[in-house]
Amino acid sequence: MNPVYDKLMKCYESLKEKIHFRPEVALVLGSGLGDYADGIQVEEVLDYSQIEGFPVSTVPGHKGRFVFGYVQDVPVVIMQGRVHYYEGYEISDVVLPIRLMKLMGAETLFLTNAAGGIGEGFQAGDLMLITGQIANFVPSPLIGPNMDELGVRFPDMSEIYDEDLRTVIRGAAKDLEILLREGVYIQLTGPNYESPQEVQMCKILGADAVGMSTACEAVAANHMGMKICGISCISNLACGIAEHPLSHKEVQETADRVAPLFKQLVTESIVRIGKL
Ligand code: HPA
Repeated sequence: MNPVYDKLMKCYESLKEKIHFRPEVALVLGSGLGDYADGIQVEEVLDYSQIEGFPVSTVPGHKGRFVFGYVQDVPVVIMQGRVHYYEGYEISDVVLPIRLMKLMGAETLFLTNAAGGIGEGFQAGDLMLITGQIANFVPSPLIGPNMDELGVRFPDMSEIYDEDLRTVIRGAAKDLEILLREGVYIQLTGPNYESPQEVQMCKILGADAVGMSTACEAVAANHMGMKICGISCISNLACGIAEHPLSHKEVQETADRVAPLFKQLVTESIVRIGKL
């Protein structure tokens, strides 16, 4: 048997014993959005530590739990705290929660994160709709024997971020009068921020935002046939574009400042996705 698949199934069995909620949308909360789940109609909560074999995050301020509930009348599962590759987990563990949420029933994945801004004219505090991604700086979570139960060996990646979902999010931003940038997200391993030269490399590659999560999750979700959308909070201008050194504190402070607007956009988008 495949140990990655065995682990996933073990987690799924453990979760099914405890939770009977069927979500439609899976939402992953990035920095600054951590308390989004407090504002929804919560039905059930499950700490990751209660799921047998589940990878648990070590980053301070990252809560580790699934919250099940409703955003208006849309059933959602929210990942409050994700695990990152830089923490030392296997990439298969990093994406395990995504796979689990699909197995629970979620057909749509809504990814959020904080990222460094590279795109022309971007400013700290901007929100960016993710239109595409570069994931080649982290291992593909699909390396290893293919899990045919989840998806095909060589999945197409021509439209990772679903065009219909992008249209919905654009419409929500417009109606809420929120400026929404658009662009390509690149995932590097971290945990160090990039050097100015690495940021230039990312720019040449076509990236508008750089971060340490998300793209590998989208690869796993795309493999399983989920519809995917994502928004980055540009918490800072990337190194060398900003004129000052980066700090985690700046990233957190900006993400916290933008959070109310970001939450509004996420809520309005999910409500509209529920009507698709
Ligand atoms: N680089 C990488 N990851 C990040 C950044 C950044 O500038 N800001 C927030 N997450």
